[in-house]
Amino acid sequence: MSSKLIVNPPRPVPAAAFARQETYAATRLPVDLASTLIPDAYTSPEFFALERDRVFAHGWVPVCVLDEVAEPGAFVTVEVAGTSVIVCRTKAGELRAHHNVCRHRGARLCAEASGRVARFFQCPYHAWAYDLEGRCLGTPLFTPEAGIPEEQRHLFDMEAVKAFDIADHGLHPVRVAVFGCLVFVCLDPDTPALESQLGDLGERLAGYRIGTHRLVHRASYEIAANWKLVAENYMEYYHLPWVHPGLVKVSPMADHHRWQGPGKYVGFCTSPIAANTDDGGWKGLPDMPGLEGADAYSARFAWLFPNIAVNALPNHTVLLMTFPVSPTHTREVLYMLADPGSLEAAGQLADEQVANLVAFWDDVNREDIAIVERVQRGLADPAYTGGRLCYRFEESVHRFQNMLIDQVLGIVRVPGGDGSELVVSS
Ligand code: FES
Ligand SMILES: [Fe+2]
Repeated sequence: MSSKLIVNPPRPVPAAAFARQETYAATRLPVDLASTLIPDAYTSPEFFALERDRVFAHGWVPVCVLDEVAEPGAFVTVEVAGTSVIVCRTKAGELRAHHNVCRHRGARLCAEASGRVARFFQCPYHAWAYDLEGRCLGTPLFTPEAGIPEEQRHLFDMEAVKAFDIADHGLHPVRVAVFGCLVFVCLDPDTPALESQLGDLGERLAGYRIGTHRLVHRASYEIAANWKLVAENYMEYYHLPWVHPGLVKVSPMADHHRWQGPGKYVGFCTSPIAANTDDGGWKGLPDMPGLEGADAYSARFAWLFPNIAVNALPNHTVLLMTFPVSPTHTREVLYMLADPGSLEAAGQLADEQVANLVAFWDDVNREDIAIVERVQRGLADPAYTGGRLCYRFEESVHRFQNMLIDQVLGIVRVPGGDGSELVVSS
């Protein structure tokens, strides 16, 4: 029986096979028969390039939180699939995203990672300027405040120019959408709307009102591992007792439950949340007001495809965004947010309570980073061609890997849910 089971192909898998269905046959099997995604998907530059195109250049990718672009003129620059994008808030309060390239001779327009402009972005090369809506305001002639002396302005006179309409030279737009406190961009004009992929996740998270949370902490981590290893490690709690001796005390294996509906996400929860121990925990900051039912005593975890973890708890939310840098390097940004009601109730203790939560998450995150880096080192061994999934705990990994395979093969599919809504008593 086992000799007939479909297994992964030998390594190295040729790059031409990465776009073929049969390459993934062993991962397409039902979870109790399936093997993990081919290891070359975590090590190969060719797979990385294919994935960058099919997953990141054509999908909705989270890039920042609303609080980072809250004020008119505020902007962040982010890189998506190798393309630099400016996300900004206009004077009218709208969110916009633009390709970060000047329409004149192609200079990178904005070099800063974040900031705030009074009225416009100005190219450092020949000083073409663009407003927050992306409209070209013109050459320095049109923006005398750029410092062009009065007697030289005639040099910039555009009156004799032929077939030039300034309206045709605005920044190339990028699609932008919001889910909760998260800002997403999509480089592909033809990709279906973000909502079409979220399934029931918005409803499931509605009680936590993360759209009005305030940003209280942001930190980034450099990880010597493929971004998918970070994702897969996040979504299985099989490793908890061995990797997280502190976390497992406040989040015991037995209190983990599936929390999965239809949508391009992988969900589970801890319910009820246990009290803190000497190693810290998830309590401290007061719970937000108005939580109902199981939301009031549960921690909800969702990995939204492709690259973000949303952790919603009664008293805070943590987001983990993972940005692929190379096949073996990931930049992760951790955001902690809290409801204004929690922060108000904490009063002067808020900073200390946030710091305690940050320290706990940081400890857990560093434990995760160490183990995924170790997996990355192991995956380099060509003798390893993939392993069997533990069906009891790794259905989540199987779901994620199949979403990834869909995207790489160009299959448009939003996975269904298992209908097992959590019912527990507090
Ligand atoms: S390249 Fe930007 S103004 Fe010339
Ligand atoms: Fe972990």
